[in-house]
Amino acid sequence: MKFTRLFSRANIETMTKEIAVSGIRPTGKQHIGNYFGATRNFVQMQDMFNGYFFVADYHSLTTHPDAKDLREKSKNIALIYLACGLDPNKCALYLQSDVPQIPELYLIFNMMAYLGELEREATFKEKVREQPNNVNAGLLTYPVLMTVDIIIQKAKKVPVGKDQQQHVEMSRDFVRRFNNLYGVDYFPEPEAFSFSQALVNVPSLDGEGKMSKSKPEHTCIYLEDEADVMRKKMMRMVTDSGPKEPNAAKPLIIQNVFDLMELVSPAETVQYYNEKWNDCSIRYGDMKKQLAEDMVTFLAPIREKIKELSANEKILLEILGDGGAKARANSAQTLKDVREIVGLQKV
Ligand code: ADP
Ligand code: TRP
Repeated sequence: MKFTRLFSRANIETMTKEIAVSGIRPTGKQHIGNYFGATRNFVQMQDMFNGYFFVADYHSLTTHPDAKDLREKSKNIALIYLACGLDPNKCALYLQSDVPQIPELYLIFNMMAYLGELEREATFKEKVREQPNNVNAGLLTYPVLMTVDIIIQKAKKVPVGKDQQQHVEMSRDFVRRFNNLYGVDYFPEPEAFSFSQALVNVPSLDGEGKMSKSKPEHTCIYLEDEADVMRKKMMRMVTDSGPKEPNAAKPLIIQNVFDLMELVSPAETVQYYNEKWNDCSIRYGDMKKQLAEDMVTFLAPIREKIKELSANEKILLEILGDGGAKARANSAQTLKDVREIVGLQKV
């Protein structure tokens, strides 16, 4: 009796909470950019929101990965979700490819996207430059698939890093177009979300743009890195010859070191080095050593948890199975409604 009451209350809560969706592509090892831009927010959101967090394995097919490699990397992303603190009792954890309703809605939503806007999108243009021999149609319609991941769960909040803001903006356009075209108010307009004031952008350690799985290993701090590897990478961060006058503006490569420090060090430490910068007595070697130690300390519990969970693949697969079932059930309802809205036959 008691159990039944509790169970139904949980269900009601799940139904009334706002929905959040996000995913990470299994294209490499997870780094601190993924953590601070995405996963940390997922963990913070899981109590307040009805969360759907997945491994974006369909998306990674755009870069033609080796099949065995893709399977392993997908499990690794899921494992790291758990190690970072996602709780399968609070949110759904699943593989995108376990939800066959996604490709069907993707087909329907491709009619909401125009060639010109897809070609103008920044990540597409970057990929055309990076992989001129593989400019496939999946790359072009990447933002449509991403939109569908979000809206198939009727989500409003999309926790992502700064680099994904343009994609989420596009999903708002596609949703608006769909609602207008069919004269319905069916899909909510998704919005990018972060608990920090602005969307997070973790810089690459070489100072060239954002940290990314597709960049060289020495430019990323991976959540799985051993402490000494992390220390070495941090000490190699590029700096300059120091401030020339008091209270000078910081050049980008120095701002990057401060930005990383803001993420993992206590506020007093950041303040101390700011003062040292402002009075021109800063020693970058000391600062980087301090940053490396704070990074190692911050990430130690996650690294431990990754090791612990790696030993039990069976549980991981069970969790993904349950999450997939929940994501499919919710998606099936959305797809049924959409087929009705657009005038397709009932199946
Ligand atoms: P990557 O670019 O490393 O391959 P993904 O594209 O799979 O990473 O991104 C997964 C999530 O991590 C997205 O929400 C993205 O915004 C976030 N993210 C990736 N890199 C960074 C970064 N350097 N700073 C902040 N967030 C990031
Ligand atoms: N495009 C995202 C990235 O490269 C990954 C992703 C796919 C995603 N589908 C999504 C993120 C839906 C948020 C919501 O990082």
